[in-house]
Amino acid sequence: MSKPDPCILVIFGASGDLTQRKLVPSLYKLQQQKLLPESFAVLGIGRTQLTDESFREKMSETLEGDASSFIAKLHYLKLATSVARDYLNLVHRLRNLDSEYHAKHNIIFYLATPPSLYEIIPKYLALHKLNDESLGWRRLIIEKPFGYDLQSAQKLNESIFKDWHERQLYRIDHYLGKETVQNLLVFRFANQIFEPLWNHNYIDYVEVTSAELIGVEKRGGYYDKSGAMRDMVQNHLLQLLGMVAMEPPARFDAVSVRNETIKVMHSLRPISDFDDSVVMGQYTSSTIKGEVSQSYRTEIGVPEDSRTETFVALKAYVDNSRWHDVPFYIRTGKRLPSRVSEVVLHFKRTPHPLFGTFSSNPVEHNQLIIRIQPDEGILLKFGLKVPGGGFEAKSVKMDFHYSDLTGTKVPDAYERLLLDSMLGDATLYARGDAVEACWDFVDPILKHFAKKDSALHGYPCGTWGPQAADELLAKQNHVWRRPCKNLNTDGDFCEL
Ligand code: BG6
Repeated sequence: MSKPDPCILVIFGASGDLTQRKLVPSLYKLQQQKLLPESFAVLGIGRTQLTDESFREKMSETLEGDASSFIAKLHYLKLATSVARDYLNLVHRLRNLDSEYHAKHNIIFYLATPPSLYEIIPKYLALHKLNDESLGWRRLIIEKPFGYDLQSAQKLNESIFKDWHERQLYRIDHYLGKETVQNLLVFRFANQIFEPLWNHNYIDYVEVTSAELIGVEKRGGYYDKSGAMRDMVQNHLLQLLGMVAMEPPARFDAVSVRNETIKVMHSLRPISDFDDSVVMGQYTSSTIKGEVSQSYRTEIGVPEDSRTETFVALKAYVDNSRWHDVPFYIRTGKRLPSRVSEVVLHFKRTPHPLFGTFSSNPVEHNQLIIRIQPDEGILLKFGLKVPGGGFEAKSVKMDFHYSDLTGTKVPDAYERLLLDSMLGDATLYARGDAVEACWDFVDPILKHFAKKDSALHGYPCGTWGPQAADELLAKQNHVWRRPCKNLNTDGDFCEL
């Protein structure tokens, strides 16, 4: 694997949680695998008063083993990000670090700040010519959320495009950094046995699920202004759908892959009958194994009359010839029975079932399950003759688990994404037009459900969401899989 060019990574929001929990540990893991550039330094920027030393101390709390050579590369600068003249200190500091580390003027700016700064920081960086690539490359990584709705996302793109080119921009969607999500592309396009079946002739419906066991925890203040549609569907789940539904790209590079993803987004049929296609839910209190789980409305930072959704189930269609009339059901929620993300392709039943049970039973048909997390792997369900007399068929499973690959660890999404940004590969980052296209799909739904009289269903913590979510599928004789933490098991009674 090629090594990235020398560079300096500047992290805005360095005293925040993401830097300590995800970014610094991922960089450390890259160093352990010898994947960081030979000349490399990190400059953390924040409002908190810290020295290089105290920043290093704080960051090393989460690192295991002897991290001293890595920690020495961490630096810190206190800066008021919304004060233009403060950036002179940044220019000066970067000049010094560049000569100390021989970083060849290559710089990545990572915005891990509150989104209210996403317009200001790129503008002030440009004001001080830190976007100028005449001596080295300059890149900008932007965390989610990218906009609050279509209008604000367009405004944000417009504002950043005044000073930066799309090729310099890396919009993070950490789902695209997940090993198992990337494998979707390899699985589809490197295996001749699946791709011919990957269309409306053979597939009845598709499920895209991301379920969480936890509630909003301490993020009530943020979450209440966001909700599951903005927090998960607009970005992670629509990107995932893009990977499942896309056509084979001409090449495997950022332009070709992202050109195919955007075609999927543009083919999404706008939802018009909201009540027929979308179910919004909010968790209510329940008692699980003698322990009381509190309702969303009693979480810290959440108003007691909140109408924010913590669960979404929706039915989408990709209007192109490959997916003609195949429903894609998307489901996400907090406080569901298990933490599971997966894609399930349900194949059509055999047109003329010769054998009893399998394929004549509504839940027994071929299913291909691509498990994103946990117990990462792939499962195929197919019919097999029940041994003995007669010709009764039953469903059996063929499975692959990443954990069976000896000597292989599934890397964290941020490891892969940070490395790609240093290598200048934006394939696994969301392009501006795709972000806007996702908002375009989601915006009318949000507007509809913002009305006070729209339906918001309660669901007790620890259940698979409101009953209406089951009814959404039942209309077409479809059922959700009830995944357990182990890929091979499903149903209402799982190991906890
Ligand atoms: C984040 C959301 O983007 O993704 C969180 O803001 C959510 O609310 C998280 O918990 C889920 O990510 P993962 O990788 O744990 O599935």
